[in-house]
Amino acid sequence: MKTLGVGLIGTGYMGKCHALAWNAVKAVFGDVARPRLVHLAEIDAQLAAARATEFGFEKATADWRALIADPDVDVVSVTTPNQFHPEMAIAALEAGKHVWCEKPMAPAYADAERMLAAARASGRVAALGYNYIQNPVMRHIRTLLDEGAIGAVNHIRVEMDEDFMADPEAFFYWKSEGTSGYGALDDFAVHPLSLLWYLFGHVEAVIADMTKPYLDRPLQHGGRRAVENHDAASVLVRLSGGISAVLMANRAAWGRKGRITLQIFGSKGSILYDQERMNEFELYQADGRATEQGFRKVLAAPAHRPYDRFIPAPGHGLGFNDLKIIECHELIRAISGEPASIVTFEDGLRIEKSVHAMAESFHQRRWIEIG
Ligand SMILES: NC(=O)c1ccc[n+]([C@@H]2O[C@H](COP(=O)([O-])OP(=O)(O)OC[C@H]3O[C@@H](n4cnc5c(N)ncnc54)[C@H](O)[C@@H]3O)[C@@H](O)[C@H]2O)c1
Repeated sequence: MKTLGVGLIGTGYMGKCHALAWNAVKAVFGDVARPRLVHLAEIDAQLAAARATEFGFEKATADWRALIADPDVDVVSVTTPNQFHPEMAIAALEAGKHVWCEKPMAPAYADAERMLAAARASGRVAALGYNYIQNPVMRHIRTLLDEGAIGAVNHIRVEMDEDFMADPEAFFYWKSEGTSGYGALDDFAVHPLSLLWYLFGHVEAVIADMTKPYLDRPLQHGGRRAVENHDAASVLVRLSGGISAVLMANRAAWGRKGRITLQIFGSKGSILYDQERMNEFELYQADGRATEQGFRKVLAAPAHRPYDRFIPAPGHGLGFNDLKIIECHELIRAISGEPASIVTFEDGLRIEKSVHAMAESFHQRRWIEIG
């Protein structure tokens, strides 16, 4: 494959994460061409120029459409707030670029559908930023489930909690706007849903409750503004194959910093995982003598591929940004036509559908089947 020309729109939390991944993917994996960091867009020209220098991009612009029109750009990272994803991703696909768009696809389901239609029409690779499925530990958990290490799975609990919105006096910003989506559902629940999809397949039915811990928040320049979405959600989920699951998400949970916990219960054992301790998992197998039964902690190691591409020593640990490097590598493989583990717009739309069904079930106070 010829050198891949990269465009990056947005340089906040996720923009930097994508930039690190594009910079590191060749050094870590070796088996891909070094991406060429061509064009970067931000909301103002000065910020764009500063970030381009820091991140190593050749050109900077305050007009993201100029980036998309750039013939040297082959793939566009969309790392802007949710409401901009549809317009930017669709424009990039229509210009013949591959797209790597942050989750969720879009606040409105109809927009997510338009994104998928654009991806299909373009024939280009369109992937979503569901980095947690890329953890080598998560890959191994999938292998264990496939091998029947804990028998037939019958119940799952999955939770995602952080505390960046736990302070009632934290400033109002775009994540509390209704235009960004439902709140805990499309900001958080989509991540556990990506794990459920990766490990077990799609969701078939849901019933949800949502809550607003705080009704308004202070504005940076004085005054207060009403919070327009819900910071916490609790959902009962029915997965394909009839597996029952509980999903909970809360971005106002004091003390929780990056918690995504999975508890998987099967007929012969259990598996526990917590993203705050992302370099380990616990396995309980109900065999052997009752006197020694208990959870076994397994530390991430080179045998959990592709941990080995980063570090030759077991137990030293990968970090959050490394998951993005793995995702970037999978994206490049997909662009090269090789088998790859990415969440495509096709799969992503199903995740969006689950989220909208959750919101609908909350408003209608009943189970919603997902067709
Ligand atoms: N995959 C993950 O683990 C993960 C984690 C956090 C956020 N996200 C997602 O990433 C996206 C961005 O979130 P964030 O936390 O990085 O936000 P952020 O506020 O830190 O960064 C967004 C950036 O986009 C820029 N921007 C806004 N409008 C723009 C425009 N028209 N042109 C160019 N730049 C523009 C902003 O100036 C800002 O720098 C969201 O969709 C969010 O859901 C994903």
